[in-house]
Amino acid sequence: MKIKVVDHPLVQHKLTLMRRRETPTSTFRQLVTEIAMLLGYEVTRDLELTNRQIETPLEEMEAPVLAGKKLCFVSILRAGNGLVDGMLSLMPSARVGHVGLYRDPKTLVAIEYYYKVPHDIGDRLAIVVDPMLATANSAIAAIERLKQGGAKRMKFVCLLAAPEGVEAFSQAHPDVELYTAAVDRELNDHGYILPGLGDAGDRIYGTR
Ligand code: PRP
Ligand code: URA
Repeated sequence: MKIKVVDHPLVQHKLTLMRRRETPTSTFRQLVTEIAMLLGYEVTRDLELTNRQIETPLEEMEAPVLAGKKLCFVSILRAGNGLVDGMLSLMPSARVGHVGLYRDPKTLVAIEYYYKVPHDIGDRLAIVVDPMLATANSAIAAIERLKQGGAKRMKFVCLLAAPEGVEAFSQAHPDVELYTAAVDRELNDHGYILPGLGDAGDRIYGTR
């Protein structure tokens, strides 16, 4: 599996602001959107292009456009929605799928409660997004479910990963490239990333 740590200075700066305890919900949400655009730029860097004949006001030319079917962002609910919103502002006509999962707080096992993706997901690149890769149980389960549903080409994007999660993810899905803004130190006994940024869903939606 390939892992790409997006070390762009703007990404690193925004991530630091997000980590701070005192960053309020409104700012945190805005930062998720902004950082998602930067991660979206990076994860789409190798999209295929094809040439199309167009007319400028002065003459005809062969100009590059994206090849193939529009890609699909897949949000792992609920925190993934924060990242999808930012990425959609880069690619407004992308398709969007949702996989609803929550972590059982005791066992940390991912439990599915919702699944809806485009019927032709197998023909599209699926960019699966969730801010946090902790144990990786959620990401592994979401990608397994997408594979069962026919998805063939996938990338996974998060903000923060734990080394334990990176290891588990790469064992489970060596074919899926992983993009993250940082790999933190470790997980605590409750499966939270240290130093981390806390509970991403709660910080985006102000539920705690
Ligand atoms: C959080 C986060 C990931 C998951 C990561 O979601 O958004 O989906 O935990 O942990 P893991 O790698 O150990 O599976 P949570 O289950 O808290 O649900 P939420 O998005 O609804 O808040
Ligand atoms: N989910 C979160 O939102 N944060 C963590 O640190 C771990 C899992």
